[in-house]
Amino acid sequence: MNNKTGGAAAARLNSNSAWRFVEAFIREPLSVGSFWPSSPELARAVADHCDFKPGDTVAELGPGTGSFTELLLQRLHGRGRLLAMELSETNIAELRRRFPHCETIHDTAENLPHHLNGTRAKCVVSGLAWGNMLPAMQDRIFNAMLESLTPDGQFVAFAYVHAGWFPTTLRFRKLMSGRFARVERTPIIWRNLPPAFVYRCWRS
Ligand SMILES: C[S@@+](CC[C@H](N)C(=O)[O-])C[C@H]1O[C@@H](n2cnc3c(N)ncnc32)[C@H](O)[C@@H]1O
Repeated sequence: MNNKTGGAAAARLNSNSAWRFVEAFIREPLSVGSFWPSSPELARAVADHCDFKPGDTVAELGPGTGSFTELLLQRLHGRGRLLAMELSETNIAELRRRFPHCETIHDTAENLPHHLNGTRAKCVVSGLAWGNMLPAMQDRIFNAMLESLTPDGQFVAFAYVHAGWFPTTLRFRKLMSGRFARVERTPIIWRNLPPAFVYRCWRS
């Protein structure tokens, strides 16, 4: 495949995935939480702020149709493990089509420790809309994520700017600052619909 046809094929693949994502949003608006997948700029910011190395175990919560998954797999260079936990049936089908070598798990992120089979992840990346979650669900997923991380593990998540003052988002921020030794936030990534920023948190 030359560069031109390769680029056209990649663009077609991405637009197919985007429409799959919209379909998932129409079917399950509350849990999908966004009408459009994350932009390449937000995906790049998330992947660039992850500390893991090839060979590590990484978990992704709420991968949607794979905006972050693609870059996370690239960064693992075919070594280590990526578990992607996704609730939507539409999105899981698209993920399995796009990433046959990824461990795509059709289950709620609350069950992450169970799927790690006694091992722990060096990094947990979240694509979940924490601002849309009820407090009890936030707690269950947050505790599952903590239980799944190695003692020196890292948690990376994004949040939409417009939801920054939702009580649920403030609650999520409090959970992060209460349970991690260090929490940092990137500047706003404007080239995303809606604009967002990335949190990165370290246990030690
Ligand atoms: C805001 S979308 C983000 C998708 C993708 N990471 C992106 O940035 O384009 C959130 C995704 O999380 C999934 N999701 C929601 N609740 C979940 C849960 N409890 N466990 C696993 N996935 C969940 C939704 O189906 C949706 O695909």
